[in-house]
Amino acid sequence: MRKVASLSAPSPRVMPSVAETAARPQAVVPAMPTAATPPLLAAQRLRGGVTVAWARHLDEVRAAQRLRYQVFAEEMGARLDTPLPGHDIDRFDDYCEHLLVRDEATQQVVGTYRVLTPAQARRVGGTYSDTEFDLGSLEALRPRMLELGRSCVHARHRHGGVIVALWSALAEFMDRNRLETMIGCTSIPMLHGGVVSGDVAASIWRQLSAAYMTPPEYRAHPRLPLPVEQLDQSLPIEPPPLIKGYLRLGTKVLGPPAWDPDFNTADLPMLMRFEDMPPRYRKHLLGSA
Ligand SMILES: CC(C)(COP(=O)(O)OP(=O)(O)OC[C@H]1O[C@@H](n2cnc3c(N)ncnc32)[C@H](O)[C@@H]1OP(=O)(O)O)[C@@H](O)C(=O)NCCC(=O)NCCS
Repeated sequence: MRKVASLSAPSPRVMPSVAETAARPQAVVPAMPTAATPPLLAAQRLRGGVTVAWARHLDEVRAAQRLRYQVFAEEMGARLDTPLPGHDIDRFDDYCEHLLVRDEATQQVVGTYRVLTPAQARRVGGTYSDTEFDLGSLEALRPRMLELGRSCVHARHRHGGVIVALWSALAEFMDRNRLETMIGCTSIPMLHGGVVSGDVAASIWRQLSAAYMTPPEYRAHPRLPLPVEQLDQSLPIEPPPLIKGYLRLGTKVLGPPAWDPDFNTADLPMLMRFEDMPPRYRKHLLGSA
């Protein structure tokens, strides 16, 4: 894993506090289990010419949604039902915290993740992953479970630094709020050379199911399964770097992929227990935050 992030002095906190998120007009105020958080002073500057910060205002959330639209709709061909042209907006966004990485020179948002805290998931009636999977087996984990989603990095900035900057901030958020579990859907594109095919996703699923499954008591069942049994699962294909990065952090797969026809992807349900993160990665990520 590339070493990208080190703090420049002074070292401001980058995470939103409960009070700060209340300032964002469209957000419902999240109630995190622990709120002993110093206020956000500024975006955190990292090596590689990027800064990382949590969105505090609607216009910052809109910048993240524009990047998402650019990546998911224009680049990957997702069909998005969005109320604002050029923006990827869904009903979960108002309840989420939005993490932004900016190019320091241009101030352009070049990377984002959105985060749904346990309290906000209760308010909105579940997580995005619940819409794709039956996650009944995770009930006991929910009070300290965070959902991650909509990760994307601008095509010109896909060099590892941005994604690691995002993860440093996410690890700090988990640590500071004493959250134990992270879930999310990892997308595998279905469009390959202009042809829609699930063979790549089926082959990756087969490899991961042999070695990286959660214990059987934590199983997710896709609501619209990718028909893996009818697909070629034998392609000698490597999982994408994002998935390999997740696996290195101790992430496990909860079950077979769902088919997401709108995003044109196969989505794998993933779960990470913070305690499973290997100490050296935890140190690396938290040391960068
Ligand atoms: C998926 C996406 C966000 C990944 O960003 P990226 O800059 O391309 O990053 P890569 O996947 O190439 O990974 C770069 C490096 O960071 C590492 N990495 C990835 N995720 C990581 C993580 N969570 N923690 C630490 N390192 C990680 C990778 O292993 C890789 O390291 P390597 O170069 O040593 O192999 C980006 O490609 C993108 O926006 N794609 C289109 C949208 C999309 O598919 N989003 C995913 C939805 S689940």
